Amino acid sequence: MTLKIKTMFKKSQLFISLIAFTCTNYFVQAQQNVTIPIETAKNSLVLQTDKDNRLGIVHFGKKLLKTSDNALISQELRYNDSNAGIYNSPYTPSGTWNLVEPAIQITHADGNSSLELKYVSHQTIKIDDNVTQTNILLKDPNYPVEVTLCYKVYAKENVIEQWSLIKHQEKKNILMQKYASANMYFSADNYVLHHYHGGWAEEMKTEETLLTAGIKTLDSKLGTRANLFQPPTFMLSFDRQATEDEGKVMLGTLAWSGNFKIDFEVDSYHNLRLLAGINPHASEYSLAPNQEFKTPSFISTFSDNGKGEASRNMHNWARKYRILDGEGSRLTLLNNWEATYFDFDEQKLTGLFKDGKKLGVDLFLLDDGWFANKYPRNGDVAGLGDWQENRKKLPNGIGYLMKEATKAGIKFGIWVEPEMVNPKSELYEQHKDWVIREPERPEHYFRNQLPLDLSNPEVQDFVFGVLDNLFTKNPDLAFIKWDCNAVTYNAHSMYLQKQGLPQTHLYVEYVKGLYKVLERIRTKFPKVPMMLCSGGGGRVDYEALKYFTEFWLSDNTDPIERIFIQWENSYFYPAIAHCNHITDWSKVGLKFRTDVAMMGKMGYDIVVSQLTEKELEFSQKALENYKRINPVIWKGNLYRLQNPWEKPFASVNFCNENQDHAVMFNYLTTNRFDTGYNPMPIKLKGLSPTKKYSVKEINLFPGTTSTLKADLVYTGDYLMTIGINPELSGRRSSVILEFTEVK
Ligand code: DGJ
Repeated sequence: MTLKIKTMFKKSQLFISLIAFTCTNYFVQAQQNVTIPIETAKNSLVLQTDKDNRLGIVHFGKKLLKTSDNALISQELRYNDSNAGIYNSPYTPSGTWNLVEPAIQITHADGNSSLELKYVSHQTIKIDDNVTQTNILLKDPNYPVEVTLCYKVYAKENVIEQWSLIKHQEKKNILMQKYASANMYFSADNYVLHHYHGGWAEEMKTEETLLTAGIKTLDSKLGTRANLFQPPTFMLSFDRQATEDEGKVMLGTLAWSGNFKIDFEVDSYHNLRLLAGINPHASEYSLAPNQEFKTPSFISTFSDNGKGEASRNMHNWARKYRILDGEGSRLTLLNNWEATYFDFDEQKLTGLFKDGKKLGVDLFLLDDGWFANKYPRNGDVAGLGDWQENRKKLPNGIGYLMKEATKAGIKFGIWVEPEMVNPKSELYEQHKDWVIREPERPEHYFRNQLPLDLSNPEVQDFVFGVLDNLFTKNPDLAFIKWDCNAVTYNAHSMYLQKQGLPQTHLYVEYVKGLYKVLERIRTKFPKVPMMLCSGGGGRVDYEALKYFTEFWLSDNTDPIERIFIQWENSYFYPAIAHCNHITDWSKVGLKFRTDVAMMGKMGYDIVVSQLTEKELEFSQKALENYKRINPVIWKGNLYRLQNPWEKPFASVNFCNENQDHAVMFNYLTTNRFDTGYNPMPIKLKGLSPTKKYSVKEINLFPGTTSTLKADLVYTGDYLMTIGINPELSGRRSSVILEFTEVK
């Protein structure tokens, strides 16, 4: 897309390209009409200075074949308004001549509230053959305030990660009212925003809206469980709604586990301004001289071949560069939450270890309820914060459970919620000053609990200590589920008050404190798999996922609901990170529940002893199948074939990089008599057209047979052009097909 920016550059002005030194770093000093292409393998974001040395975005989208052509783009733009050169700023300042939504708004030490940012220099650093980082320095000509815009490019994955560094050398602190991570500018005929909202057990409900003049905002002010109502993820189609395989689309997300704000502003030229960052709400930040403020990363990928390619870009990037052990392996598990809730003891648990082993999973995960004595954790009303084993339920402690698990031949993992406290706890009694609560007002609870104040280094030590103790006492602990069930009400920190720091730092310092703790945990225990959970999917983002191997998408494990929740999550997060458990939440048959859970990292949360003989046999076989096919699901490419929002059935296939192994999942998503479903062939994607594949229906329930002809071999071309008919019906509402290359 070439931008219709109201900036006019003279044809004669010279394009100053990056000066390549013999070394891999480049450096360019301030001069007029500098063009800075931020290029991935297929796309580019092109920035250029104007005659006044202000930087603007002149192009975003498919990259030009000749890099030097980028310098010419602005000559096509014919605008001369008095506001030319500010709408397209890559970091729009506030208080001077800007009239649109700013990226940054500050008050200087002398009380002046104007900011101007001009280009000074930029530098491109080659990190490796795939990754480069361009840092662009902007400065206020009148005040010693500077902003560095950082763009990290993952070329092959077509992903750009961007953030800003803010610094000043004024005599006293400056106040930052707004400090965005990203400010982008797009030009298209139309902009279609696909975004999400929801609540507990209703995550990732979709909205699609044509953006019109004015501002559309996605935000959270919830603090700890920030994404409960809305995640910081979205898809933006240009010109028209992109489909899986067609159209221009950007996927964007903010890597921040706290309050966020993403503004989409259609300006008076029908161009679109995007501003994404920490939510400025109640978060004015006082920045000391020479202190550097680093904003969170905004991560985006663009494709002009539809949402499918864009999401595969994101998956490839996330597995390789972001999610902890993203290209590694995962453990299947049996969780006791829905099987026992708080009602268990040693005997019951050791029985469950044996059940887990019989089932064939790798690990047993002990959930909530194992701790606290003065106020035992027998429900969600007490005990949170007191991380000592409950002597009544577990008289011999975790160590004993670990030994019993080992004896049973299964690994052992444990649930924690270390950021939270019940007022009915010893921790609350002893350290009320560690709790986020408004001292002048009545406490207000979410799930009977309050967050601890992670801006306080003592609290950080405490939270780190919870995990450190567990690992130190039980070095074989194989898994952690880290939960976070409450939002932040009455956001007030006794610690900040005592330090004389503004309360408006709390939301930001909380998240930074959380990352400090996670960093310490990962320095000491780099490998242990950890599940990110927040009363379901209330906190999922790419900063937290640096420390976690996987996340819990929702407490809602009804398989029909999960098809939709997993479908939407799959645009942003690869299957290896999706924790999908088979539970008794719904009465839908075990096969359907198992098949749906297999589309990610499979686990169980059921009473194994209540399974019928056939159900147990089916589950054992399913786990064997899963062992064989999980490399394709975890590391392969995902293709969405039939969208369940459009028709009452869903189909996807995964295919590995070698294109010799693929798995196709098909589901009927309605139980109505008139399903509205015609058993039509479904075309696969991502196979090799010239390879031949055998097809086998797997996960058949004992006593049932496939309706598909056995021993057939098809070419990839046939499967992708004609397709295959999974023959879904009321009796076959879930069908998994495995394709293996035949040589
Ligand atoms: C909320 C989680 O989403 C559940 O899986 C379970 O761990 C409970 N918390 C325990 O309190």
